[in-house]
Amino acid sequence: MRRRLIIVSLLVLAVAVSHWITPTDDYGLLALHMLWRKLFIIPIILAAVWFNMRGSLATALAETLLYLPHVVLQWNSQSGEYINQGGEVASLWIVAVLAGFFVRREKIVLQDLARSSEGALLALIGTMDARHQKRQYHAMRVFAYAERIAQELDLSPDDLNILARVSVLHDLGMIGVPDKLLSGPVQFNGQNTEIRKHPLIGYNIIHRVPALHEVAEVVYAHHERYDGTGYPRGLSGDHIPFLARVFAVADVLDTLTTASPHNQAMSFSKARQVIESERGLDFDPLVVDAFLRVPESEWLDILQRLESRQSQTQEPAEYVKPLDAELIG
Ligand SMILES: [Fe+2]
Repeated sequence: MRRRLIIVSLLVLAVAVSHWITPTDDYGLLALHMLWRKLFIIPIILAAVWFNMRGSLATALAETLLYLPHVVLQWNSQSGEYINQGGEVASLWIVAVLAGFFVRREKIVLQDLARSSEGALLALIGTMDARHQKRQYHAMRVFAYAERIAQELDLSPDDLNILARVSVLHDLGMIGVPDKLLSGPVQFNGQNTEIRKHPLIGYNIIHRVPALHEVAEVVYAHHERYDGTGYPRGLSGDHIPFLARVFAVADVLDTLTTASPHNQAMSFSKARQVIESERGLDFDPLVVDAFLRVPESEWLDILQRLESRQSQTQEPAEYVKPLDAELIG
């Protein structure tokens, strides 16, 4: 956001300064002088794409103020040049309004398209969750844990949006894994070749939605381990997307503290010890440190709050906010 603001501001200044310093003494220079002022349109269009109508109008205003000396200086001219200069300013505003309008319309179309594609994926995962009871509220708990770790790491709202979607969609690839394997014990699951394919299967499905490319990358890497012993690619350290390293801790925390047909639920205190013992092995030390900074009682509070909500919630994925234009843009 800030980088884009700086780019637009620098472009406006670059065009304004080039326009000011190019003299109008001969025809060649005059042509160049005229060309510079036409280039004022570029930052307006960029601002419309990045900041919508508000951005294009603000850029037109800034350019008008920078252009104003031209109009004022020509005011007493007999040649009517001031009308020409005034017309130039008016055209900037017309471009600003039109660019703002069309970009907005385009974004709404893209947004609808992305939402319907994502809606189809959420419906699919909803069907899978309904079939596998134990996973039903896993997504909601994992997101709550990931959100708390993300808060500790000072992550951005965009990162939280991605983590929310990863929480819901991370095991979508299990759709390609036979049912009988899914009911096996966790240790067995992690070693099974078929199950090891699920991050890639999920990636291949999610990656088709352009607005979910980053989500797909995190899904692909959610079983990678910091020391390179994970799957499917055996990535290590910084080669694993950072949000996948954050998600991995939240995912394992929920798996350890949730009862399954093969494992008893571990206490949060024991789960903390397990995660701490994997610092630098399974997990990124930075993420483990952030996780350990959160007191044990808070994890229990989060879990209790979610359990009290579960009875009223119909749809585990409903807390995922709709895709907005910012995520698409
Ligand atoms: Fe998984």
